[in-house]
Amino acid sequence: MTTPLRLGIAGLGTVGTGVLRIVQRRAALLERRSGRPVTISAVSARTRDKDRGVRLSDYAWEDDPVALARRDDVDLFVELMGGQDGPAKAAVETAIAHGKDVVTANKAMLAVHGQAMAEAAETAGVALRFEAAVAGGIPVVKALTEGLAGNEVQRVMGVMNGTCNYILTRMEHAGLSYDEVFEEANALGYLEADPQLDVGGIDAGHKLALLAAIAFGTQVSFGDVELEGIGAISITDIEQARDLGFRIKLLGVAQMTGRGLEQRMSPCLVPAASPLGTLENATNMVVLEGDAAGQIVLQGAGAGEGPTASAVMSDILDIARGLRLSTFGQPAHSLVKPVAAQTATPAAFYLRMALQDKPGALAKVATVLGEAGISIDRMRQTRHVESTAPVLIVTHKTTRAALDTALAGLPATGVVEGAPVAIRIEEV
Ligand code: HSE
Repeated sequence: MTTPLRLGIAGLGTVGTGVLRIVQRRAALLERRSGRPVTISAVSARTRDKDRGVRLSDYAWEDDPVALARRDDVDLFVELMGGQDGPAKAAVETAIAHGKDVVTANKAMLAVHGQAMAEAAETAGVALRFEAAVAGGIPVVKALTEGLAGNEVQRVMGVMNGTCNYILTRMEHAGLSYDEVFEEANALGYLEADPQLDVGGIDAGHKLALLAAIAFGTQVSFGDVELEGIGAISITDIEQARDLGFRIKLLGVAQMTGRGLEQRMSPCLVPAASPLGTLENATNMVVLEGDAAGQIVLQGAGAGEGPTASAVMSDILDIARGLRLSTFGQPAHSLVKPVAAQTATPAAFYLRMALQDKPGALAKVATVLGEAGISIDRMRQTRHVESTAPVLIVTHKTTRAALDTALAGLPATGVVEGAPVAIRIEEV
């Protein structure tokens, strides 16, 4: 009789109950694939008396996840509670200290404490894995850690917050404002308890920081991610971008440059015909670029019971099989502290502004751009609204600093009404 792998599962929300369901329904398959039974010894959650539609009677119950993490009959602690600090962190630290392997879906915790936890796991000789923390069911951590292990990774990009992609694509297809779709998303239960985690780009920023650590062999540095949410994106810009052949995405980009590690999570225009440009609704997409493999595109559900539980199970099965990978793909002590790039890689920009409809107005704007060293690639003047003319400009590649100089110079022309909109165009 082979030794079972005994799980302790903390957190019985959507993902936790999903994991329970897979362990219960697919016991034979899991045993066949890993060569040993995968069993559950004990579970823990905030409320005990709640119908979760899944059998709990076979398992011991712990009110306190920290007590669960140190039980003698638990080999692998599965943390599915969430939260950057508090019980999740305390329980994971306890599990590691008690020699238990850990699988977690907690991006917020790892984005901040990942380096310390990976070092602690390494010192204790246990595994700490997090496939489910990034892009739900998409096996991107495995793709980077294992599939592309022989590559120097050049760039990691992704749409990794399904709620934001739902909002942006719904605005586009229904012609609705951001505020209207935000309310819809809220009613559908798509938003995190703190919506800023979604629409402020924080949740996606956590995920990007975790992928960057694996891709570039650096200590996870969420604090260096340049973050901008989608709250300022208007239906006008979505429509104008589409007319120019682009779509607006909350896009994460991480790349190692001569200026240091660049990590950005911000709204960008991407070509509508590119894989990222075709992404609809709450689907996630991650694009990995390696020097040998070229571009790899992964697409799938970024959240939800089945997809996220599937990712948790992949880590559990690795451990059951005896596959013990470093948390970030290389020994934690060998991860280097990254130098954050202070400036982003030059890019083309989309500009939209309302010009007074009078002779010489456009020339004045072109002069300000030219004096900032910005060359115009394409320009379009759209329908007049009373005495103002909406103007769209696509620039050639330029730096953010040059763009900021130009934006600062526009009010002095006396022909620009209101604040211009500037959105980066990413080459994908
Ligand atoms: N709220 C996230 C999303 C899922 O909308 O993609 C959890 O990270």
